[in-house]
Amino acid sequence: MSELAILGGPKTRPTAYPQWPVWDQRDIDAVTEVIKSGRWGGYPYPGPKTAELSKKFAEMQGGGYAVPMVNGTITMEVALRAAGIGWGDEVLVPAYTFQATASAPMAAGAIPVIVDVDPNNYCLDPKAAEKAITPKTKAIIPVHLGSNMADMDAIMALAEKYNLIVIEDCAHAHGAKWRGKGAGTIGHFGSFSLQSSKILTSGEGGILLCKTPELAAKAASIIDCGRPHALGGGEEDESQEYQVGGNFRMSELQATLALVGIERFPEQAQQREAMAAYMDEALSEVPGVRVLKRDERHTTRSFYRYIFAIQPEEFGVEHDVLCGALDAEGIECWVGYEAMHNYKLFQPQKSKLAVPNAFPQYFDFQNMHLPEATRACEHEAVWLDEAVFRCGPQGVDDAVEAIKKIQRNAAELQKAADAFRGKSS
Ligand SMILES: Cc1ncc(COP(=O)(O)O)c(C=O)c1O
Repeated sequence: MSELAILGGPKTRPTAYPQWPVWDQRDIDAVTEVIKSGRWGGYPYPGPKTAELSKKFAEMQGGGYAVPMVNGTITMEVALRAAGIGWGDEVLVPAYTFQATASAPMAAGAIPVIVDVDPNNYCLDPKAAEKAITPKTKAIIPVHLGSNMADMDAIMALAEKYNLIVIEDCAHAHGAKWRGKGAGTIGHFGSFSLQSSKILTSGEGGILLCKTPELAAKAASIIDCGRPHALGGGEEDESQEYQVGGNFRMSELQATLALVGIERFPEQAQQREAMAAYMDEALSEVPGVRVLKRDERHTTRSFYRYIFAIQPEEFGVEHDVLCGALDAEGIECWVGYEAMHNYKLFQPQKSKLAVPNAFPQYFDFQNMHLPEATRACEHEAVWLDEAVFRCGPQGVDDAVEAIKKIQRNAAELQKAADAFRGKSS
């Protein structure tokens, strides 16, 4: 019998990893309190729980003015609009990220310009970004991807040189720090998702950290149907003018769940960081595995998913085959996003911005050359689920054992994969 679970052998980890989100009586009590208060929604903005969340979240990240809202996509659109970026402006986004990073500029009327990533950490490559800058470039959205942070020193230097607004997409980086500064507090804005898979969650939700009280007031106004808000994004300020806005307020029910999540966060973060270091060490001994480079300026590591790379020739199979086999071993994992220029979302029929005749230079995907993102997305990257790191060293040991087992049996696995795909080997 084969050693591999996918070919009928025993599973490395027969017990499921713990579920996310975690909850206990505190969440039930918090929601019950809001239900009994009768103040469920987000109007008038901010409600008491939302205001408390703004304060506690800014404390947690170590700075900025926090404006809670409906999700971590709107946060980026609102940031762009608050900064006056819109129709015809260009916004640099990395080629390896969730589609929201590029669809948010499109929703604001701007053009996402896709740039390649650094193979060491799979985050936006500042050198590639500089080459893509034109007189129309107004903003840059680095994504702190998976378990890494983009080089914020180089990105802030670019922003200064070319007068760009920086929106850090921190959907994966709650609690992370760069040279001791919290993710999202370095650029002009930090955009956080609190969607249910994220490491701080309110089911759905987002928080925009703003560098200045003026930007926070604008953001609060945009998400509250244009009502004017006080500096810092607090109470409505009726002495000011309305602006164009929509209803993207966070509800009190969501805010109260996020507040309980913040209570739990430090202990979870400590455990994740310790287990990720343990994983780095264990994985570095597996042939064909490349542990992503941890920049020493990335002083506190936090993660949504732990990403590593394989060198398929040395490991023996491609990343999709490895992920299929890992899943069968009971190790929750994913091959990650597609490269941005392969997303169907941006094909001409989906957006007027993407009509080739309108902006051929940005949406001519066939001719885009993004080798690092392509390699990561098509061959190399493996995203391990956060749950793997939430049950002590045994959870990590099981994942490493499964990866080693697959590597030892790679030839047999490749043969089976070829047969399955109808290739002769
Ligand atoms: C990198 C990244 N940016 C933005 C988002 C958007 O967040 P939301 O789902 O809250 O809109 C997500 C995830 O969902 C994400 O992974």
